[in-house]
Amino acid sequence: MTSKSKTIRIGFIGGGPRAVGLIKTCKTIQGLKITALCDRFIDLANKAAAELGDDEAKVYTDHRRMLREADIDAVYIVVEPENCPDLVIESLDAGKHVLSEVPMSFSLEDIWRIVVAVERTGLKYMLGEEVRYTPFINHWKKLREDGTLGKIVYAEGQYFHGMHDDRYFLDPQTGRRMTIEEAQKHPNPRKSRFWNMGHPILYLPHELSPILRVLNDRVTAVSCMGTNPTQSYVHDFFPRPDLETALMHTAGDTILRLSCCFTVFSASKAITGRHWYNMMGTKGSVETHRSDHDKMKLLIAGPHGNETPEETWWDYDPQTTAAEVLSSGHGGSDYWPVRYFVDSILNDTTPEMDVYKAAESAAPAIIAAQSTERDGIRLEVPDFRPGAHRAVGQHPRE
Ligand SMILES: NC(=O)c1ccc[n+]([C@@H]2O[C@H](COP(=O)([O-])OP(=O)(O)OC[C@H]3O[C@@H](n4cnc5c(N)ncnc54)[C@H](O)[C@@H]3O)[C@@H](O)[C@H]2O)c1
Repeated sequence: MTSKSKTIRIGFIGGGPRAVGLIKTCKTIQGLKITALCDRFIDLANKAAAELGDDEAKVYTDHRRMLREADIDAVYIVVEPENCPDLVIESLDAGKHVLSEVPMSFSLEDIWRIVVAVERTGLKYMLGEEVRYTPFINHWKKLREDGTLGKIVYAEGQYFHGMHDDRYFLDPQTGRRMTIEEAQKHPNPRKSRFWNMGHPILYLPHELSPILRVLNDRVTAVSCMGTNPTQSYVHDFFPRPDLETALMHTAGDTILRLSCCFTVFSASKAITGRHWYNMMGTKGSVETHRSDHDKMKLLIAGPHGNETPEETWWDYDPQTTAAEVLSSGHGGSDYWPVRYFVDSILNDTTPEMDVYKAAESAAPAIIAAQSTERDGIRLEVPDFRPGAHRAVGQHPRE
């Protein structure tokens, strides 16, 4: 239940394409007001301000100044993942609640720093991973919880999202995306955030977070393999692996197979077709569609073997779903992280995707990347929750 007595004032750090989309969503959220915007590139900060369309909102190019001067209770951090952890910690230290974009971090040490900072400050931290709230995931969660699927022994997730050729370089003066052709003609093009992602598997949280939400589980061990670690087969200028696939074992004894690839163009251009998920339980299986021409599937085991799968489509009912949900990005999913974050502040509750769930969606991916560099060796994932092994607010090294 949302308390309507207070409005949370939020400032954005980052004014790139993702922030512009999220500003549209935030404008529809009851109990939330964007009062400040910041990007290092003034052109991008101004573009974000034009999207907001509120003359009273302050525009900054220096996030420290925004944290010091702006009238804000919270910060939405929508920057490159490698820049995220420092900004999360600076914002918490400035007394602001934090909603942060996916992935949480590319480094285990930075995850620990964020966990400890959240515990130390007692402020709200939420990861804005939205795929975990899609209607099919909500249905699968119910099917597991009510026993329809039995014990889930196997789950798969893959994110094959070929990137257009304007995703590799930026204009160094304006921050605008440049095509490969434009970059080749430019004297000094700036490399985009993809260059700092040394492994595609690091962008795994959109697969892992929904699967772990259905399972109510965490990963304990990981092994991963990838294609040529120093050369893409798609772009001769891109010294990164095209594809990595991890096997993971959960605390609840489920085996996961998870894959990421962002260079090869997949058959389907539809957003939902870029993600693919499958789960097999002892009583039934569920699967999303393979392409725009396919349906989702539910298969319940019959007394004489498997029955014909039911082809289905788990989605929002447009008659009963609020317009602000339907109009938000990623098929209506972008609404929920913002809604849950604002509610957690208004009602002083734990955010739905709190710092531990965020860590559990990022750390197995980082460890998978480490595994590829060690011939696919099986590696353990640390437990980020406090307990006998670690007191609240204590770094494991202390
Ligand atoms: N949840 C999703 O579905 C989803 C979708 C797209 C992107 N993302 C995530 O959102 C983030 C942003 O994506 P994008 O495509 O807009 O990236 P981008 O690289 O185009 O934009 C990031 C912006 O942050 C700004 N920035 C970085 N550090 C700053 C600082 N200290 N102060 C002010 N501005 C700063 C940069 O100048 C840049 O304009 C990434 O972490 C990405 O992984 C998530």
